[in-house]
Amino acid sequence: MRGDLERVLFDEPTIFRRLDEIAAEISVDYRNRELTVIAVLNGSLMFMADLLRRIPLPLKLDCLSVASYHGKATQTSGEVIFNQVVAPDVKDRHVLILDDILDSGHTLAAIREKLETAQPRSIRVCVLLSKRKRRAREVNADYLGFEIEDEFVVGYGLDYDERYRNLPCIGVLRKELINANEVNHGLRG
Ligand code: IMP
Ligand code: MG
Repeated sequence: MRGDLERVLFDEPTIFRRLDEIAAEISVDYRNRELTVIAVLNGSLMFMADLLRRIPLPLKLDCLSVASYHGKATQTSGEVIFNQVVAPDVKDRHVLILDDILDSGHTLAAIREKLETAQPRSIRVCVLLSKRKRRAREVNADYLGFEIEDEFVVGYGLDYDERYRNLPCIGVLRKELINANEVNHGLRG
């Protein structure tokens, strides 16, 4: 798998050092608050597991699963489909949404809107990565691991056509491995 990377952007120690910092910030900000973490599957799995174990606060954890782009595509279709019919019960809770990467912003904007209808006390967004240049919808990351260039990355939860999620580092996928046609057929965020 590692041989499929053009280069490594963040190795495991680098990711973990950054997680220590973000977790410390979150732990201060949410002290004495009713915190509900909503993790966006599947991309945020590794990030969620490693981040939450660094936050020594009582919290509730729920997951949402969405699909926004499909198959061998490296760009969102713009349409966000929720795989759950019912939004998590976050009434009066302080909600922290966790996702792997903020790209066009369509996914997190749609999730934010859906959760707002459930009347939480507050909503903040925490993402490991952001590609600011690609933003189509305005979504602010309240907590951000790393800002990256407009390149397709995999590893540490992030996939290409469902592969590479279990790679421990984050790296740029070699261009020749990305299907030029970007065919559409069902893949999850
Ligand atoms: P957005 O709706 O365009 O912000 O897309 C967010 C979702 O697209 C993320 O949760 C990822 O699943 C996926 N995504 C965006 N950029 C990348 C990337 O570089 N590598 C892998 N997945 C990505
Ligand atoms: Mg994905």
